[in-house]
Amino acid sequence: MADDLTGLRDRREGEIVVHTFANGLTVTAEVSWKKDRLRILPLTRLQGALLNYLMREPSRAAGRLVFEPFAGSGAFGFMALALGARRADLLDINPRAQRFHRATAAANGFSPQVARSFTGDLRDFTAAEPYDLILANPPFLPTPGCVTGTLNSNGGPDGNTLLDVLLARLPGLLRPEGEALVILYQLVQGGAPLAARGARTHVPDRPVEFTLLQNRPVAFARYVEAYELQHPRERDGIRRWRDELETAYGPGMTLAHCVMHIGPRGEAPGPVTVRRNVAEKFGSAFVVAEGDPDSLPVDGRRR
Ligand SMILES: C[S@@+](CC[C@H](N)C(=O)[O-])C[C@H]1O[C@@H](n2cnc3c(N)ncnc32)[C@H](O)[C@@H]1O
Repeated sequence: MADDLTGLRDRREGEIVVHTFANGLTVTAEVSWKKDRLRILPLTRLQGALLNYLMREPSRAAGRLVFEPFAGSGAFGFMALALGARRADLLDINPRAQRFHRATAAANGFSPQVARSFTGDLRDFTAAEPYDLILANPPFLPTPGCVTGTLNSNGGPDGNTLLDVLLARLPGLLRPEGEALVILYQLVQGGAPLAARGARTHVPDRPVEFTLLQNRPVAFARYVEAYELQHPRERDGIRRWRDELETAYGPGMTLAHCVMHIGPRGEAPGPVTVRRNVAEKFGSAFVVAEGDPDSLPVDGRRR
């Protein structure tokens, strides 16, 4: 597609995936089917949307101090460096991530002082100085308490546990004139992602724009059904989780991928907006269509 500048190509070497971008950057990850809770996820079109955004607007990264919490492969931080960022700090709780960060840094000629890798929980992370740009893809799947999920996916009952950790820490992590872009999968009620409700509390003094990446959100009932098919022994717990969410947020919810864009701090409270501007902002190649495997990330195939 003409508006996709990433030029993303993948090469597989056993269980390793090497992503190559049009600007020559290479990022190393692991295959998605690897049965290993510490696996380093390969990129999908969801991360591609944010990567394309950076390639279309390189001035957002050039010269900036960048933080990528929940880094996994560190693709966002490395793309920012390829576009001229001053430094990228990559943080992941998964100890394996550091090995991948080091390999990708070496393959692209970034020194350990420029591509800095940290192992730890975002809750305990101390930044030497606040950042200009935060790029994140937290574990975001709404997950029933009776289902373990994975380190990559489990976002707690409403999907926003780790997002809330990030937002609570934002005042100390982000410079007043800085901005943050976060890839999410959201329960949507009344046309607005749940995170839009909390945004004013967590981010009272910045504009917040949500872009829905999915042209047709998935029914919450379908998502619940997928969990039941995947975890038949946990049916009662899954239904209790469903009932608790519907009591809290009302019936008729849907789910959709979206990007949360938090802008520079202003004197007056910024607006919280929900827009369907994925083609203009991220590129039409990044619209998640109905039936796309990304649209229902829980495996709900009938067995
Ligand atoms: C959805 S994955 C991000 C994948 C990444 N965008 C990539 O393309 O490789 C979420 C990541 O968050 C990490 N994570 C989970 N809980 C965390 C925490 N409390 N602090 C820091 N990282 C965490 C996981 O290990 C996982 O790598």
